[in-house]
Amino acid sequence: MSAIRPQNKRMTTHSVQEMKRKGEKISMLTAYDYTLARMVDAAGTDVILVGDSASNVMAGHETTLPITLDQMIYHASSVVRAVERALIVVDLPFGSYQGDSKQALNSAIRIMKESGAHAVKLEGGVEIIESIKRILTAGIPVMGHLGLTPQSIYKFGTYTVRAKEEAEAEKLLEDAKALEAAGCFSLVLEKVPAHLAQKVAESLEIPVIGIGAGSGVDGQVLVLHDMLGMTHEFSPRFLRRYLSLYEEITSAVSRYVEDVKRIDFPNEEEQY
Ligand code: KIV
Repeated sequence: MSAIRPQNKRMTTHSVQEMKRKGEKISMLTAYDYTLARMVDAAGTDVILVGDSASNVMAGHETTLPITLDQMIYHASSVVRAVERALIVVDLPFGSYQGDSKQALNSAIRIMKESGAHAVKLEGGVEIIESIKRILTAGIPVMGHLGLTPQSIYKFGTYTVRAKEEAEAEKLLEDAKALEAAGCFSLVLEKVPAHLAQKVAESLEIPVIGIGAGSGVDGQVLVLHDMLGMTHEFSPRFLRRYLSLYEEITSAVSRYVEDVKRIDFPNEEEQY
């Protein structure tokens, strides 16, 4: 089966902004390794996020907090080696930018220099604006992230929908405008009411990419392992599963185990 490569021209921060201007929806997915990143890119995904969700998905941690800058750089370099077209954005992990703007700049520079990725993503609003501005002074594009911000899970206590109340919704809109004014090229909105997400998208010129934020935004992002059905115990309402890989992979592996036990594998043709 041939891979779909709709346009081979490399995606840039400007091309995703151009997509919003033209009313074309932006597709974004996570990837953390070479093999899957190749497929995600070959299928025509516009933006690949090396998310700190690697902490959950790849390392089995309960939260995104434990993943380190070195580990993010390792994942990002593997993805960079695989990708020909997509724009590659890398999460700055917890503890690598909250100290001060100098720490944030150093972390962002390490990601860009050591992985070869194209942009970084940071969670938070006005409270991290100085760090965002400082990173931008080095010519590093920044994507913002508002709404549910998993690095603050211990402050919020739950992963439920954010900004349902008027005051929090107003603060979110102000934060979004501040991120745009600071120079972010795009923004992720996670788990907020659809009408609020649409209002944010309509109020900004930069593209707003939603996860659990409805269809009124400029693009969608999902965690690859969730949409492929590999993380079968995780089933939030916003998730659409395109495959059931947990079942398919465990079934394939159990057939292999059986074949080995009954000396059916390898057969005559599968040996030298
Ligand atoms: O880390 C991640 O995968 C993310 C997405 C959920 C947007 O930040």
